[in-house]
Amino acid sequence: MSTENKKLPGDVETTGHSWDGIEEFNNPLPRWWLWTFYACILYALVYTIAYPAWPLISGATPGVLGYSTRANVAADIAKFDAMNAPVEAKLVAAELTDITNTPELLSYSVNAGKAVFQTWCAQCHGSGAAGVQGAGYPNLLDDDWLWGGAIEDIHTTITHGIRNEQDPDARYSEMPKFGEILEPAEIAQVVQYVRTLSGQEADAALASAGETVFLDNCAACHADDGTGDRFQGAPNLTDAVWLYGGDVDTLTETVTNARFGVMPSWQARLSESDIRAVATYVHSLGGGE
Ligand code: HEC
Ligand code: HEC
Repeated sequence: MSTENKKLPGDVETTGHSWDGIEEFNNPLPRWWLWTFYACILYALVYTIAYPAWPLISGATPGVLGYSTRANVAADIAKFDAMNAPVEAKLVAAELTDITNTPELLSYSVNAGKAVFQTWCAQCHGSGAAGVQGAGYPNLLDDDWLWGGAIEDIHTTITHGIRNEQDPDARYSEMPKFGEILEPAEIAQVVQYVRTLSGQEADAALASAGETVFLDNCAACHADDGTGDRFQGAPNLTDAVWLYGGDVDTLTETVTNARFGVMPSWQARLSESDIRAVATYVHSLGGGE
């Protein structure tokens, strides 16, 4: 039931659609709107020609301006590399022991070494280099060194790694699995003796029997007094610093099955200047000798 409204001359044109008497005007779009719309289309066209835009199978169209955030980053990196090249050359040429006495090399190494550490080392040794107790990742802040805390020792450890198969010069030693050598009772004794070495509570009778087991089986690597041997990376058992742990269960596991902690070799992955920088950084952390 629609009732057509009467058209007067000068009325806005309608589309002819009518719903219950309500009609649709056919107004032109506002000028400002239309021009904005055309301007947007033009901008989009120019943009897709000038800048990387249309996705193709292997990457987007490059755009005639050749703009690329990736290339910008690469250029920035190249710029900083070029800026660092002279000091890196000096770092590589210096005697290792002179680095810490040369302020320029020391400050460069500590900064660059920290960045290397956060990228390559923190996942095992922790971002603060405190290691992960119980997991065998040593604390690098203390002066308790498995393989030595002089700059040359640290440099060698980082260059070649420890017990890895990639590097024939890796530091190597292997604690035997005493589960295959000793009786469980002897392991229980030596575990109690090891606890006495670091002043922990222990069963006196077992521990005194354990001393003999220790001298016969362990002293060759951990030394008669249990202070360890850096040539073999055998830890000091008399301090309260543990790679894996000093409680009875952990000690029993360590002695029965041994551990074999592995650190990767870095010489293939890091440049010599990066290795020197991170070695100097580790040396500077507090425990360097
Ligand atoms: C995959 C884990 C892992 C990564 C990554 C790693 N380490 Fe280690 N690191 C170890 C382990 C495990 C040991 C102890 C091995 C052992 O029992 O002798 C170790 C030992 C060391 C030691 C010897 C400490 C001592 O007391 O003598 C130094 C120094 C060291 N790491 C420095 C570094 C630096 C620097 C980096 C980075 C460039 C790094 N590590 C990356 C696992 C790792
Ligand atoms: C051939 C050398 C060697 C002999 C022998 C040896 N060890 Fe070890 N021991 C090591 C090395 C190397 C490590 C370092 C851990 C690793 O292998 O990752 C170690 C680690 C340990 C640890 C771990 C310390 C920690 O900080 O968590 C304990 C405990 C230990 N040994 C006890 C013993 C006892 C007890 C014996 C004798 C029954 C023994 N070891 C015999 C070389 C030796």
